[in-house]
Parts: sequence; C-alpha cells; structure tokens
Amino acid sequence: NIPTSYSGPVHIGVIGGTGLEHLPDFNKAAVLNVDTPYGTPSSPITILEHPSPSTGKPIPIAFLARHGPHHALAPHEVPSRANIAALRHIGVRCIIAFSAAGSLAEEVKPRDFVVPDQVIDRTKGVRPWTFFEDGVVCHVPFADPFDGKVGEVVRKCGHSLEGEGVVLHDKGTVIVMEGPQFSTRAESNLYRTWGGTVINMSTLPEAKLAAEAEIAYQVILMSTDYDCWHDTNEDVSVEMVMGHMRANAVNARRFIAAVLDELSKEEHIDLVEAKHLAGQRKFGVSTY
Ligand code: ADE
Repeated sequence: NIPTSYSGPVHIGVIGGTGLEHLPDFNKAAVLNVDTPYGTPSSPITILEHPSPSTGKPIPIAFLARHGPHHALAPHEVPSRANIAALRHIGVRCIIAFSAAGSLAEEVKPRDFVVPDQVIDRTKGVRPWTFFEDGVVCHVPFADPFDGKVGEVVRKCGHSLEGEGVVLHDKGTVIVMEGPQFSTRAESNLYRTWGGTVINMSTLPEAKLAAEAEIAYQVILMSTDYDCWHDTNEDVSVEMVMGHMRANAVNARRFIAAVLDELSKEEHIDLVEAKHLAGQRKFGVSTY
C-alpha cells in the first residue's frame, strides 16, 4: 500500500518519455493524484526517494510519465500545462525531461544522446502553450530555452558514463514539430539547412511552460532514427523508434540515475530550488 500524500516539498522532477514510463530502480514513497486548473496531468506523480550521496538523507524526486503510464497519449494530446502546473504545485523547481528524437545530423547516430541548447518551434499553435492569458500579461526570457546550470550537470554526468556505452553530444538544436505524422522528406531536408540537430514532438510547449513557471528545465534526447533525409538508412517508423528505445533503455536509466545522484547532493540545493531564476517572470496585470 503506497501512500497517496507526501509531506514536504519535492524540488526535483523527471518527465519520462517514450520508453521511459517508469523508473523501477528507485524506492517508491508515494503516488499523488494532483488536479490543476488546467486539468489532470498525463499520469499520477510518483514520488521516489533517492539517498543523497553526500548526506545519505532521502531526497524526493517527482516522476511523471508524459504519455501516460501506458503510453496512451500522443504528443499533441499531452496536457503539458497540467503536467507543469502539477509539478510546480508540489514544489518542483528543477526538471530533467527525457524524450526520443530523430537525428538530422550524420554524426548523431541512433542510440546517441543529445543534450540540446536550442530549440526551433514547429508546433502549430494548437496545443495550449502559455499560462499567461485572460488579463495576465507576462513575458519570460526564452533566448536560451534550457537551463545552462542544470545542463552543465547533465553533460558532466553523461560524459562520466562514456566508458559504459553512453555516447553524448553536448549541444544541438532540437526542432519540435506538431506530429503525430512524421516529416516529409522536403521538411526533413529543410530542417537540416536550418541547423537542426535532432527532431521530436514533445519538447514544446513543455520547455516554454517550465520557463513561465520559473522551473530550471533541461531535456535529454535519445536519438532513435535518421528521420527520412538519410539516403542509406531506412525512413523513420514507430517500430524503429520503439526498437532503439527498448534496446537502449538500460543506458537511458543509467544516465537519469547519474543525474539524479548528482542533483541530490547538498551542493546543488540552490540549483534544484531554482534560486537563480527568481524574478524572471515579468508580471503586469492588464488594467482594462
Ligand atoms: N521522435 C523520434 N523520432 C522522430 C522523428 N524522426 N521525427 C519526429 N519525432 C521523432
């Protein structure tokens, strides 16, 4: 019988994507059903406890499955506002997100990881993408869409696993498209001329909403295919994406575990409480 409430704030959150619907190696402390003004999140939030390597104290981590516990939500159906609002509500200020992605660059091979530093929005504006509306006039900086300080920790952890088969690319631009159809060959080639490194359907509006909520957010992408631009590789298919995700799930879990280990250290407390983001939201309430 797992408790349905948890006392005390949870600062670190993980949003798991395709192939990472659970984190089975962690101790489950609670399962929370959180409701929000934006609806119900994709999945209940599982609170996992992880002993801090520096103090031994259990550090809580909130885990949410982006596509639902049984992968029933397509990317355009994911209730991103509810997901971010629910995590923020329980105290989360630092999110490590995980997602599959197609590769737009020869050197990013299937099963390689990319920690991107930029994003190009090719969603169609049909997913609710802001908390600021109905008289709340507010703008957040988004020039650097991912958190540089969290990104630094993530990259260091990824590189520490290089001897164990993790291949990591430190930078890159992720194109986020609407889906659920994959790109045409012309689009795929166009995105390459734009400097796209990888492509997926999930990183937006999630990263934008996290920025609005003053949450330090970094996504880890795992390459699963060469989309459809590559002339010597097969075009992307769902089977291809799932096949590589499954085959590399052990490395994905190892990578996440190393990041959580590092973020649970006492020295990162200001980072996981997003102290460096305080005051980024520039609020003004409309007067008419
Ligand atoms: N997710 C995984 N592979 C993808 C691709 N080629 N395009 C869009 N999203 C993806």
